[in-house]
Amino acid sequence: MLISTLTLFRRAASASWLCPCVIGSKQHYCSSARKIRIRDALSSLETGSNIRIQGWVRSVRSQKNHLFLHVSDGSSLTPLQVVANSDLNTRGLTFGCAVDITGSLEKSPRQNQSVELQARHVEVVGECNPVDFPFKIKERHSLEYIRQFPHLRCRTNAFSSLLRIRSEAAAAVHSYFRDNGFVQIHTPIITSNDCEGAGELFQVEPAGNEHSLDKENPHFFSVPSYLTVSGQLHLEVMTGAFPSVYTFGPTFRAENSQSRRHLAEFYMVEAEISFTESLEDLIKLMEDLFKTSTEHLLSHCAEDVELFHKYVSPGHREKVDLILKRNFHVISYTEAIDILTRSSQQFIFKPEWGSDLQTEHEKFLVKHCGEVPVFVTDYPYDLKPFYARDNQDEPQHTAAAVDLLVPVVGELCGGSLREERPELLKTRLARAGLEDTYAWYLQLRQFGSVPHGGFGMGFERYLQCVLGVDNIKDTIPFARSSRSCLL
Ligand code: 4AD
Repeated sequence: MLISTLTLFRRAASASWLCPCVIGSKQHYCSSARKIRIRDALSSLETGSNIRIQGWVRSVRSQKNHLFLHVSDGSSLTPLQVVANSDLNTRGLTFGCAVDITGSLEKSPRQNQSVELQARHVEVVGECNPVDFPFKIKERHSLEYIRQFPHLRCRTNAFSSLLRIRSEAAAAVHSYFRDNGFVQIHTPIITSNDCEGAGELFQVEPAGNEHSLDKENPHFFSVPSYLTVSGQLHLEVMTGAFPSVYTFGPTFRAENSQSRRHLAEFYMVEAEISFTESLEDLIKLMEDLFKTSTEHLLSHCAEDVELFHKYVSPGHREKVDLILKRNFHVISYTEAIDILTRSSQQFIFKPEWGSDLQTEHEKFLVKHCGEVPVFVTDYPYDLKPFYARDNQDEPQHTAAAVDLLVPVVGELCGGSLREERPELLKTRLARAGLEDTYAWYLQLRQFGSVPHGGFGMGFERYLQCVLGVDNIKDTIPFARSSRSCLL
């Protein structure tokens, strides 16, 4: 009995391209129609083929006997036009609803698209009340407005473009390192060190730890532990066995900042190379990573990037093209201070040798260099963390450290040669009272240690620079900053 029912069912399915079947209590239309992503449908040459798409309605227009829908499924910025006869059941079909549509892909008579879908069946999978929906049909909402809805903003064109760009940029970074022989290291998120020594740490303990039974040692890991501020020291461990390594992951800083370029949780790309005694090697690597990844992004995400350059930051594309064409500048910190002090610009923070460069100084220096990125090298020794290599120069004592400053954000990368000489490192650690904490780090210098160096690049700041996005919160799916952790 069961076999004959199944046979009948199969015959019915092959007789028609559409077969109603029951899943749970609901009737669905599964069909011989091929499920396809809208991006592939748009470039398909197989007109006349039966296809099935699933996505969200971006616009609905009714005309005589037809409904015209634009449907998006996240695979491309351009939606697919769907033409539905008004005799089809189109109840609940509104802007924002989720749909499952089968039909025939046909050559479009309209000029601005090559294909359209002639619908045979339209199912509204999830209704959307357009009155309550915070985004309105045909309105171009600002990034600032959509930021208020972190749970919904992926449904807007601008933010779905951003998310595709971000995903492609991450892939470009990984390809760059793979193509250049780097080994990816998954550095830990929980760590017992404060690499940067700036004390901007989030401590990690189990919730409700005040009830810990071990009053002598209440720490879960026996030692105080934190969310990582940088994977650098763990990458440095690997320079004892690999010539080039990188890591790319979430990084946390408890900075009490509401600035447009700081997040409490951001992604950092970090690389470390062995057998290098020159900042030039790091400079070349940073410039090459920036240019190669950006060229990849411009060619693989052209439509999405164009949306930003057209509507979010008009005129920015020319700036990006200039950045890609020109060699980045290199100046020393001392020269940078010179440029700043000689300028007639009124700075909030007075530039002086020995003080850190502020964002206003960084942006001025980029402007001074014609909006072309500029590397600033050899910072005052006392400004840099314990790991930075001593240049042993006089009278202005500097370290072999380098920052890359770029348009839109200022500092994009920070790096240095690392102090590989055990005696110098030991003295510096002792001076900072860190000898015990970093005994293992010092020990690395005793077993086949080599001169090495590396850098970190803020991934969200990179996206800000390429897209011309003013606020870093608009470059990450879920932004975290002091006093704000929505969702
Ligand atoms: O200059 P930083 O602090 O360097 C380090 O952490 C090194 N240990 C990296 C290394 O050598 N492996 O940070 C590197 C970059 C900055 O230039 C900036 O782009 C980004 O990380 N960054 C932030 N991005 C967003 N929000 C924050 N709060 C950031 N802090 C740093």
